[in-house]
Amino acid sequence: MGGARGGHSSSSPSHTIEHASRSAVPDNNASGKNILGGDKRASTRRAPQPVVCLLSAECVPELYEIEIECNRPIWSPQLITNEFRNAHSQVYGARLSGRIVGFLIVHVILDEAHILNFGIRNSFRGEGIGRVLLVEVIDRLVDEGVRIVTLEVRATNSVARKLYESIGFAEAGMRAHYYTDNGEDALILRLDAQSFLSRRAAGDPR
Ligand SMILES: CC(C)(COP(=O)(O)OP(=O)(O)OC[C@H]1O[C@@H](n2cnc3c(N)ncnc32)[C@H](O)[C@@H]1OP(=O)(O)O)[C@@H](O)C(=O)NCCC(=O)NCCS
Repeated sequence: MGGARGGHSSSSPSHTIEHASRSAVPDNNASGKNILGGDKRASTRRAPQPVVCLLSAECVPELYEIEIECNRPIWSPQLITNEFRNAHSQVYGARLSGRIVGFLIVHVILDEAHILNFGIRNSFRGEGIGRVLLVEVIDRLVDEGVRIVTLEVRATNSVARKLYESIGFAEAGMRAHYYTDNGEDALILRLDAQSFLSRRAAGDPR
């Protein structure tokens, strides 16, 4: 993640309506775990249930605050603003009591989606919010006809990699020296909608 930082220009902010999150019902798989996180203890261990919604450009200052805590190199407010002008871009937030505690930016072109940026405020990490945000967004994308979701992740980002792998992302390649701050390699991860859906299927009442 962190590759395409330029943004594209297009006419108007395309995502100004905030939609409430669907309730998330864990599904079961052979290991007894589910892609919404951990095991059955998760529902008691993790209190926060964020509302996942599309954001508008007025959220840029809050997003920039989070960006500073999450990424190197940091996306400038201008780069974040550009995402709201890009017809291919969707900017999602996870809100708790109205406050944005995490965000995810994804570009969608036809039936492929690429996640460009994803982060949770420092003080809200490890509480299941990142997983809920990621799963909810992918769920919506798949509903809209996306077949493949890709992203780049630092090879050393073991927390993010564990999350992605638990959802069904698999390694699809590598970009050597991709990150400009330290020359670190990026792994390209890819999620097939079919594999995501098969993990979601059992026990999901929707
Ligand atoms: C990666 C990130 C978005 C995860 O968000 P989060 O809300 O902290 O993650 P969650 O609490 O939902 O945990 C999701 C999974 O991540 C992994 N994880 C979370 N915290 C972890 C930790 N401290 N150690 C190891 N794994 C951890 C676990 O697999 C966890 O699933 P489980 O608890 O159900 O087993 C967050 O850590 C972050 O913002 N990091 C900085 C920015 C970043 O790296 N973004 C991704 C760029 S590719």
